[in-house]
Amino acid sequence: MLRWRISHRALSVSGMRAISQRAPSNIDSLIRVDHAGEFGADRIYAGQLAVLGKTAVGPVIKEMWEQEKVHLELFEKLSREHRVRPTALMPLWNVAGFALGAGTALLGSEAAMACTVAVEEVIGDHYNKQLRHLMENNPEEYQELKEIIKRCRDDELHHLETGLEHDAEKAPAYESLTQAIKVGCRAAIWVSERV
Ligand SMILES: [Fe+2]
Ligand SMILES: [Fe+2]
Repeated sequence: MLRWRISHRALSVSGMRAISQRAPSNIDSLIRVDHAGEFGADRIYAGQLAVLGKTAVGPVIKEMWEQEKVHLELFEKLSREHRVRPTALMPLWNVAGFALGAGTALLGSEAAMACTVAVEEVIGDHYNKQLRHLMENNPEEYQELKEIIKRCRDDELHHLETGLEHDAEKAPAYESLTQAIKVGCRAAIWVSERV
C-alpha cells in the first residue's frame, strides 16, 4: 500500500511537471496569435521589398523588415519554451501576407506605407490589449513574455509613425484602403487565436 502511494505520488508529480511545461490555454493562444502576426508581418514587408526594393523607400522598408525578423525570432523562441504549436494557418498567412505587401506596393509607395499604418495600428492595439490582460491576470508571471510584447509594441508604433512620415495618407483611397486592411488584420487575429 505504501509503495502504491509513493509511486502514485511520484506519478502525479511527474504528471504535473509535464503539464506545467506547457503554457495554459490562454497563454498558449496568446503566443500563437503573436507568432502568426509576426510571421505575417515578415511576409508583408518581404512582399513590399520585392516590389519597392530599388526605389527611394527601399531602405526604409528593409529596416522595418529587419525588425520584424527579430520579432518573429523572439516569438519562435517563446513558442519553443512554452511548447506552443503554430497556428494551422501558417501557409495561408505566408501567401496572404506576401500578397498584401506586394499588392499594396504595386499601387505605389504611399499605398505600401498606408498598409503599414493600418497593420501596425491594429497590431499595436492588439499588443496593448494583451499587456493589459497579462497585468490584470498574471501580474507576477510571464515577465519575459511581457517584455517581448512591450518591445514589439514599441517597434510597431514606430513603424506606424514611419508610414505616416512617408506619405501614407497620400495613398489613393487612403481611408477605404486602410479600413479594409484593418478589418482583414482583425479577422486574421481572431482566427489565429482559435485555429
Ligand atoms: Fe512585428
Ligand atoms: Fe511591425
